[in-house]
Amino acid sequence: MAPRVTVNGRVVVPGDKSISHRALMLGAIAHGRTEVTGILRSADVQSTATVLRALGVPLSDLAEPVVAVQGVGPRGLRAPATDLDAGNSGTTTRLIAGVLAAQPFRSRLVGDASLSRRPMGRVARPLTAMGATFEFENGDGLPMTVTGGSLQGLTWYPEAASAQVKSALLLAAYCAGVPVEVHEPAATRDHTERMMRARGVDVRTEGRSVSLLPGAPMVAAATAVPGDPSSAAFFAGLAALATSGELELPGVCVNPGRVGAFRVLERMGVRLGYEDLAESGGEPIATLVAAPRLLHGTTIAPDEVPSLIDELPLLACVAARAAGETRVTGAGELRVKESDRIARIVANLRAVGADAEELADGFVIRGSDRPLAGRVVTGGDHRIAMAFGVLGAACGNAIAIDDPSCVAVSYPAFWTDLRNAIR
Ligand code: S3P
Repeated sequence: MAPRVTVNGRVVVPGDKSISHRALMLGAIAHGRTEVTGILRSADVQSTATVLRALGVPLSDLAEPVVAVQGVGPRGLRAPATDLDAGNSGTTTRLIAGVLAAQPFRSRLVGDASLSRRPMGRVARPLTAMGATFEFENGDGLPMTVTGGSLQGLTWYPEAASAQVKSALLLAAYCAGVPVEVHEPAATRDHTERMMRARGVDVRTEGRSVSLLPGAPMVAAATAVPGDPSSAAFFAGLAALATSGELELPGVCVNPGRVGAFRVLERMGVRLGYEDLAESGGEPIATLVAAPRLLHGTTIAPDEVPSLIDELPLLACVAARAAGETRVTGAGELRVKESDRIARIVANLRAVGADAEELADGFVIRGSDRPLAGRVVTGGDHRIAMAFGVLGAACGNAIAIDDPSCVAVSYPAFWTDLRNAIR
């Protein structure tokens, strides 16, 4: 018989990762001093801070309650004395590539083994078309050397829907003082656009097209980072898999571009409420209230994927407990995340006894309530560790995770918060 698991209480999830990176980067190239509260204190955001410091940006310790960034302006960075180490962070690498493309010096970006395997050609190609020079040593992964200079405007149609690529182009255009238009194949998270606009930059959105018109300076603005919906999704998933109780998740960013996983969980049967709707730092926030109900499988369509791309490992683990089939397609981007997430999800679900099938651009999962047990190999991927941590907690902890410490990338206190959510 499946174990009974009751969830209860409030989980205050840490600050949003995407917004935390952007608060530091926009602060660095703005005019004036930026104060950031609620920043995510994790290894990935630390990578952005380390890179910015190496480029001469005065930045306080991330452990401070208010993190201060002294803006140096769009072209005020200085040539780094050493390689810029982005650790495990794709967002750090791709966004800073845009900034570096407009600086009159050379910088070499390096990262850990996982980041070094990830494709950087997607930012190098358009930034090269704007006038920067990129050199690679292994395919189109890191190390990558960027030589910036004076850029020209660009109209670009990215092949993959990527907020990181869109953001890199907006940052390059702003720093160089040239126009850019990005026409995305599917709409992606719009934090860069919202944050640039809030700082005075002329950024316009029309459907899936975003453009920046040069001229207006970026003025420093205080930033209150809302809770990370990608972190909150793990606890909504835990509530989904529990037998009884309710979890409250206050202060979560409910930007329409980020809440796809919550919509899917509701579709699968989870009871989800949005309370105390408010605004923080230009983003809608809410207290999410999640409680279990009978789960059933669903189909996740390609056009939904950008709004839940980081939550697919968690949704796969929930699907393993939902009646019937869950099918995901159009999610080929999962193969170039911190690990090949399609392969990791399917191999690990099978390793614990679930029924999962790999597709070229997604997966199919047939749920059951049979006991699940076994050992999960994360490949150092934080979201794989947390997704299976949630499934394990709901299955009486018979699932072991080989590398639980990799959650430090986005959610250092995850295991403590998970333990405390279960009564
Ligand atoms: C992010 C964009 C997404 C997402 C990543 C964070 C961002 O990546 O998966 O975790 O902050 O812009 P892509 O732009 O590669 O889709």
